[in-house]
Amino acid sequence: MNNFIFQNATKVYFGQGCVKEYLACLTKSAGTVLLAYGGGSIKRNGVYDEVIKILKESKKNIVEFPGIMSNPTYKKVQEGAKLALENKVDMILAIGGGSVMDCCKAVSLAARYQGNIWDDFWARPGVIEVEPLPLGVIVTVAGTGSECNGGAVITNEQKKIKTGRDYPKLNPKFALMDPSYTYSVPKIQMVSGGFDILSHIMETYFSEPDEDNVSDDIMEALMKSVIRNLRSAIRNPTDYTARSNLMWDATMAENRVIKMGKKCDFECHNMEHQLGAYTNCNHGCGLAVLHPVYYRHIFNKGLPKFVRFAENIWGITRDGKTDGQLALAGIDALADFIQEIGLPTTLKELGLTDKKQLKEIADSCSISGGSYKKMTHEEILKIFQQCYE
Ligand code: NZQ
Ligand code: ZN
Repeated sequence: MNNFIFQNATKVYFGQGCVKEYLACLTKSAGTVLLAYGGGSIKRNGVYDEVIKILKESKKNIVEFPGIMSNPTYKKVQEGAKLALENKVDMILAIGGGSVMDCCKAVSLAARYQGNIWDDFWARPGVIEVEPLPLGVIVTVAGTGSECNGGAVITNEQKKIKTGRDYPKLNPKFALMDPSYTYSVPKIQMVSGGFDILSHIMETYFSEPDEDNVSDDIMEALMKSVIRNLRSAIRNPTDYTARSNLMWDATMAENRVIKMGKKCDFECHNMEHQLGAYTNCNHGCGLAVLHPVYYRHIFNKGLPKFVRFAENIWGITRDGKTDGQLALAGIDALADFIQEIGLPTTLKELGLTDKKQLKEIADSCSISGGSYKKMTHEEILKIFQQCYE
């Protein structure tokens, strides 16, 4: 195993009723709370009313920051930071999925930073020493795992860049995770979030080292859990066991545990983020389109791992197949699963209409250092073209 340092500063309160039980206590020290949320789902499913009641009973001054969009923009971050500063906010409470959580992490940083936060944080790797505003999150959809990491993925619309960085100080102070809050997530968002979880695991699994290591073993258990529980939640959206497992799978996939000792790939994420920057496509849907094509492109460079994936995750037996055939059968099983759960399989289905734009998007993608095969921009373009229709 490679050397590593592990830390995770987020305290998790998991299970039905956790908001009612713990929110008042967790916000005790804050006089003014910035209550942040998305496009309104929390007003339709009762979560907003439940939270407002608790905050009002504990006499909080509430400043609302609504309308955080999917793929949150840098402009929205600046709006939130201004609101936080003007109202002398003591704590941010983010209610939603990855977009709301990421935007609020960025707001918590921007509100405390004097310089240009885009140039100094998202645009270049480097060290900034800022103590962000305290942030707590209430998770309403399983997927990104943002609740337990310091990652904040933000889109700069002007520059056409969607990018994120993991800054440990951005880990939320607490995460309230009630699986029943996810019952109302529309099916397409549920499966997109589910595929995002799977993708986070695969992007870590398909990277060196491949010697016996506990991270790979944990990842196999997690992948099987995501596949099984996604099927159960599709059959019965109010299956508490399935929703609980998916919610914790999401956290486990992105709370750094499985990355310990691994290089990590995340080239598909780099590619999807730039597709998002140009088309505003849904994150999990974009990943679903890219993964099988990308894996068919690189599998030869990590053949034993792709064979292991076919056998251990999809239960495919050798039956005279060569390693290459077995590896490809595993990737085919992944592609079949994507179709089975109703995710898109082409960029056209994602809403891309101009094939000529693919070159510009491909050229704008960052190249990951951790893949079995280091991509070139020409190869990324080829993959995009194969994904087009
Ligand atoms: O906006 P509202 O009305 O709340 O509706 C949302 C939104 O339309 C809806 N939703 C959420 N909870 C719901 C619900 N609808 C009904 N009932 C509920 N309980 O779901 C839609 C999508 O929400 P969003 O937050 O955009 O989805 P997701 O959690 O997939 O987050 C995607 C963002 O996270 C970034 C992605 O790039 C993307 O910008 N990522 C963040 C990561 C991180 N911080 O670690 C890692 C990921 O790889 C990813 O890049
Ligand atoms: Zn993701």
